Amino acid sequence: MLVLGIETSCDETAASVVERCPSSGMIRELSSVVASQESIHAPWGGVVPEAASRAHAERWLGVVRLALSRAGATLDSIDGIAVATQPGLIGSLLVGVSAAKGLAWALGKPLIGVDHVVAHLVAAEIGAEPTPLPAIGLVASGGHSSLLRLGAGGSIRLVGHTVDDAAGEAFDKAAAILGLPHPGGPHLEELAERGDPRALTFSVPHVQDGLGYSFSGYKTALLYAVRGAPARRDARGVAESAPPEPLTEQRRADLAASFQHAVVHALVRGIRKAVEREREDLGAAGAVEPTRAIVIGGGVCANRLLRERVESLGAHLGLPVRMPPPRYCTDNAAMIAAAGAHRLARGERDDLSLSAHSVSALVRGHRGRPLQGSHP
Ligand code: KG4
Ligand code: ZN
Repeated sequence: MLVLGIETSCDETAASVVERCPSSGMIRELSSVVASQESIHAPWGGVVPEAASRAHAERWLGVVRLALSRAGATLDSIDGIAVATQPGLIGSLLVGVSAAKGLAWALGKPLIGVDHVVAHLVAAEIGAEPTPLPAIGLVASGGHSSLLRLGAGGSIRLVGHTVDDAAGEAFDKAAAILGLPHPGGPHLEELAERGDPRALTFSVPHVQDGLGYSFSGYKTALLYAVRGAPARRDARGVAESAPPEPLTEQRRADLAASFQHAVVHALVRGIRKAVEREREDLGAAGAVEPTRAIVIGGGVCANRLLRERVESLGAHLGLPVRMPPPRYCTDNAAMIAAAGAHRLARGERDDLSLSAHSVSALVRGHRGRPLQGSHP
């Protein structure tokens, strides 16, 4: 089965063709084209939504054509068109969704909507064995930090998510504070290699029984370490503030290493809590199937320290860890095509009323309670 995937949820215009083996369920990438908009947004220090949608509108057709030709495929030879429908920038998502609908209608082929966050976890299966289910998944990217439970048969439940910044967003803001270019995650990781992670300690927020995340406090602590904390008045009304340590090259590296260590520690702690919670529920009810794997995805999962720490956690908990290679961690369309191929294989498809949503259906309506749903 050949599936064309289209991804336009943020600042990458991407298209890919994957093949799914009907017997093993294995996914093979035939092509994956990613047209980055980094140079368009870099001068602004972040993604400009209107500029992103315009660039998607100008580029999507060329990107799809290239993906088809690199795969040696044609529009006639594909079996379905998958597209990211949520979450993301609404104007950007609409470009991809409209394009996929137009193609599906004109060709009379199945249309399959895909949740971008779920697709980040399916990325671990491209060119690899399918992930054993049920699994606990962490998606950590520029827009999302979510813990999910993936059940057999495509069921999915949100276990916890960030109450403020996403992990990647926190990396990007911390990098900006340290004077590094956007997107800052990879630059901060490089700087952190020369630093001491014990230089600055961060207080750890306790969110959603340890299953949720909050990263904005880490960013503020870093800002104060660089620029100095705001003055506080003592009992006599005298303003006191300690001046920050001079920002030498070594101090910058130490702060980068400390920040990276704190964020990675929080992300890994959330996975451990989620697995432990599932095990407690299993002990109590006996009806839940045991967790059989840990899977991670999203741009932040390209981070080497995070990958090492998740591997160690898996070894400690006796669970296999599935993680995509770095090129499938950041946004791409192969993961959209792969998630779409799984849905199509289950006999699922969408009609032309398919719409785009800025917030994932898994998070919409979530009020700190686990929310049931299904792929995508
Ligand atoms: O998954 P992605 O490409 O886009 C979203 O869906 O948001 O993730 C991009 C994010 C950016 O915030 C970027 O700084 C971060 O992933 N990132 C990293 C690394 N590589 C990318 N963060 C930490 N370490 C890295 N090596
Ligand atoms: Zn993403």
